[in-house]
Amino acid sequence: MSAERRTAAIVGCGDIAHHHVTGYQLEGVDIVAFVDPLPVARDQFVAEYGTGKGYASLQEMFAKVTPDLVSVCAWHLLHAPLTIEAAAEGVQGITCEKPMAVGMADADRMVEACEASGTKLAISHQRRFTLGWEKGRELIAAGVLGEVVMVIAKFGHGLLNCGTHAIDGVRFVLGDPATEWVMGAVERRTDRFERDTPIEDSCLGLVHFAGGTQLFLQCDLDMKGASFQFFVRGTEGMMEVSETACRTIGAGNALWTDHDLGLPADEINVIGGKANARQTRELLQWIDGGAGHRCAATTARDTVEIMMALEESARRYQVVHMPLAEKGYPLELMIDEGQLPVEVEGRYDIRGYLNREDVDEAQYAELRATGMAHHPIMRTLWERQQQT
Ligand SMILES: NC(=O)c1ccc[n+]([C@@H]2O[C@H](COP(=O)([O-])OP(=O)(O)OC[C@H]3O[C@@H](n4cnc5c(N)ncnc54)[C@H](O)[C@@H]3O)[C@@H](O)[C@H]2O)c1
Repeated sequence: MSAERRTAAIVGCGDIAHHHVTGYQLEGVDIVAFVDPLPVARDQFVAEYGTGKGYASLQEMFAKVTPDLVSVCAWHLLHAPLTIEAAAEGVQGITCEKPMAVGMADADRMVEACEASGTKLAISHQRRFTLGWEKGRELIAAGVLGEVVMVIAKFGHGLLNCGTHAIDGVRFVLGDPATEWVMGAVERRTDRFERDTPIEDSCLGLVHFAGGTQLFLQCDLDMKGASFQFFVRGTEGMMEVSETACRTIGAGNALWTDHDLGLPADEINVIGGKANARQTRELLQWIDGGAGHRCAATTARDTVEIMMALEESARRYQVVHMPLAEKGYPLELMIDEGQLPVEVEGRYDIRGYLNREDVDEAQYAELRATGMAHHPIMRTLWERQQQT
C-alpha cells in the first residue's frame, strides 16, 4: 500500500454502512463523505464518526470532492446506477454491496463501466474473508476430500439476499469453478419483496460446475439448520464448513476432525470487523498493483449468473446452459408474463422495516444511545408500530 492515506465515501447510510466504516477505519482510510438522500441518516454518520461531510446525492458530493474509494451501501436496484456513476468520475476503487445486481445486464454494465475508467470494483461478499471458508478452500485444494462430488447448501431470507452469500461461498470453497448449467424451481404465491425487489417465496436449484461437482441448494423451504454452513461430499471424505468452523471425516480419519482456525468461533467476524477490514486491504493492494481481489466483480457476476439462471430455468422449464442469454430479471419476467399469479393478496417486504422515512427519530435516538445496532433498532421500532 502507498504511504499516502486514501479517502472514502459511504453511499447509503443504513445498516451495512456501519461495517464499511469499520473496515476503512481499521485500514487507515479517511472517510470524507456520507451520501444519503435522508438528512437524518447522513447526519447521524457525520455525528457518530466525527468525520466527513453529508451529501444528498453522489452528484452533490462529486461537485465538492472526489474520494479515492466509494462504498455503495444502498438497496440492490441502486447498485448498478450508483456504481456506474462513481466509476464515471474515475474513483480508484468501489466496494459495492451484494447482491451485485438484479439481472445480467446491470452486472455486465457495472463491469464494463469500471473497466473503462480503470476503477477496481469489488462486491461485498465479505464472508470470503472468514477463517472457516478459507480453511475449507485450502483443504479442498489440497485434495483432502479427493474429488468433490456434491455440495449441499440450505439457507433462507431470499435468493438475492442470502442466496448470493451462500452460492458465492460455495464457489469460493470450491476454488471458483466455472458453471456449466443450472436447473431450478421457484414458488411465488405471495407478493413477496426484499428491499424493494420482487423475490420468490422459496426456490431450489442444482448447479453443475466444470469438472463435475454439483451444488444442491434450497432457499426458504425449511429453516431448520438454514445457515451458511455447507456439507461437502468427496470421493475420499466429507466436510462441514461454515464461516466459523470446518471439520472433515474420512481421508484417514474415522471420526469427525475439527480443524483449528486459529481463533475461537465467536471471535471470527462474519460481517464488519476483520472481514470488512481485510476486504478493504485487498482492494487497496489491488489498486496498488496487486494480483486481484477475491471478491472482484468479474467473480461476483458469475454468482449473479447462477441465481438468474436458476430462475430462468424455472421460467423455461429447461436446464439452462451458461452463458445465460437472458439479461433481465427472470423472476420479474415470470411475474409480468403471468407465470406466478399471487394467491395471497398483499405486497410485503421482508426488509421493509429498514425504511427510515416514517421512523420516530426520538425513539431511534433513545435506542441508539443504549448501544443498540441500526438493524435491531429498525426492527424494534417497526414491531412497536405494528402493535399500535
Ligand atoms: N454483505 C452483507 O453481509 C450485507 C448485510 C446487510 C445488507 N447488505 C446489503 O447492503 C445493502 C443495503 O442494505 P442495508 O440493510 O444497509 O439497508 P438500509 O435500509 O439500512 O440502508 C440503506 C440506506 O440507503 C439510503 N439510500 C436510498 N437511496 C439512496 C441513494 N440514491 N443514494 C444514497 N443512499 C441512498 C437509504 O436512505 C438508507 O439510509 C443491500 O443491498 C443489502 O443486500 C449486505
